[in-house]
Order: sequence, then structure tokens, then C-alpha cells
Amino acid sequence: MKVLRDPADLSIARDDARRVGITVGLVPTMGYLHEGHNSLLKAAREQCDRVVMSLFVNPTQFRPGEDLGSYPRDEQRDLAIAREAGVDLVYAPEPEKIYPAGFATEVTVTGLTEVLCGSSDSRGPEHFSGVATIVAKLFNAVDPDFAYFGQKDAQQATVIKRMAEDLDFRTRVVVLPTVRDRDGLAMSSRNAYLSEGARERAAAIWKALLETESVYETAGLEAGLEAGRNELERAGITPEYFEARFPGTLDPVEAGGDEAILVAVAAEIDGTRLIDNILIEPEKGKVQTT
Ligand code: PAF
Repeated sequence: MKVLRDPADLSIARDDARRVGITVGLVPTMGYLHEGHNSLLKAAREQCDRVVMSLFVNPTQFRPGEDLGSYPRDEQRDLAIAREAGVDLVYAPEPEKIYPAGFATEVTVTGLTEVLCGSSDSRGPEHFSGVATIVAKLFNAVDPDFAYFGQKDAQQATVIKRMAEDLDFRTRVVVLPTVRDRDGLAMSSRNAYLSEGARERAAAIWKALLETESVYETAGLEAGLEAGRNELERAGITPEYFEARFPGTLDPVEAGGDEAILVAVAAEIDGTRLIDNILIEPEKGKVQTT
């Protein structure tokens, strides 16, 4: 497994891959890998000839005062996991290589980035400009046929799909189901921050989403959302948002009906901000359980 730190070296690998016509899969990460990342690496390994994993804690997607400085990092462990997962090439650049002096470009996807985590009471649209800019740079550097993202970050995946389509990237964005712990908590690098007590309370997030799904199917959307919010309240969690949106457009859902809906939540538990969601397809029932 190669580890490259310079975009110039990466372009040699990219040109080689194009010359011999092999398919390239990219798994973008900020490191501190967990089972969720592993499932993306596994899919990339199964579907592509060459698997590239990026490892970069992207400063521009953190708000001032957020956890950039304390974000969990362990490169040696990440490299061992990547090797085990059959990654061919890790791209782990230094921030100065990505954002050299004078860097002044930002990729902004409008609309989709102004709701949920992008609203002004949440992380704001700047977070998604940071994400879209780094992902655009990674797509340019790696030129992957496929790029893999997790459904836990449903809004991020929607924004990246829009960006890739609007900017004519040829990369297919693949979104894979959220991987959960035994009690349903979605895998996240930030779970490492949770104390034992906070970790136990955090399980209420998935319980709330399941409760919303089951009540929605029998009593409608309003009752479903209320049941979910009540479940959180019982665990002493006040969500930043707990909302139903249409998955493709992120437009609000008024009442639900024949279309799939996304119920998304963000909540801070003892200072750790967690997000999760459930995709509910009324006709097919629950589509995302693991
Ligand atoms: O989901 C993440 O880990 C990050 O937002 C990503 C896509 C790697 C961009 O920095």
C-alpha cells in the first residue's frame, strides 16, 4: 500500500490508472476509521480495480470554536486498517498542500446547504462549502470512477451528488447504509468523545428515529415526529433539529404520502454533536436498519 502526501505524486498514479484503463474507487475520510469507513472500503474493494482512501482532517469544514484541534487522529492505526481492508493507495496530504498561501476558491452548493445542518442555528452553509471544496479537489486529484459516502451524513451525500453533477465530474457518487453499534448508535469518529453515560443516552437517537417510523406508518407524520421528539426528551436530549425532508431536494415534508421521506436529527449530548437519520419508504417499509 502506497502513502502519498503530494497532489503531484497522485497525478502520476491517476494518469497511470487512466492509461491502463482500470477502475478507481475513492473513499474520502477524515481518519479515525471505524466500521462505517470499513464498509465503504469493502464496497470499493469489491467494485473497483484500485482503491484510494484519502485521509485529511479538512479545516475548512469546521466552524470557529468547533473541535478541529481536538478531532481524534491516529494515522498509524488508520493506515493499518486501510492496509487490512485492501486499500492500494492512501492520500494523506498536509493542509499546506491542499490550501497553499493565496488559496481563494470555494465551491458553494446553494439551497441544499441552507437547511438542517446548514441552517444558521446549526453549523451553517459554510460547513458544506468546506466539504464541497475539499471533495471537488479530491475528485480532481484522484479522478475516481466511484466515490463512496455514508448515509449517516445524508445531507452531505446529497450536496456532493449535486456538486458532482453540476460541475460535470464523471465520478459516480455511491451512498451506503449507516453502520450501527449493537444498540443502534450510528458509527462516528466523534463517538470517541462520549463518556459512558453520554454513550448510553446517545442510543435514544436511533430509538427516536425508529419510533417516528413506526408511528408515521400508522398515525401520520406529525404524530411520528412528535413520538420521536418525546423519545429524545425522555433521554434528556433536546435536538438541534428533528425534521422530515424529501431525500433528493431536502424540501420540508408537510404530511408524507407515497414518496420516501428522510427524517434527520442533530443533537448535542454532553458537548458532543451527533447526527443521524432514517429513510422511510412507506410502500417498502424501513430501508435502513444496519
Ligand atoms: O465525511 C467526512 O468524513 C468528510 O466530510 C469528508 C467527506 C471526508 C470531507 O472532508
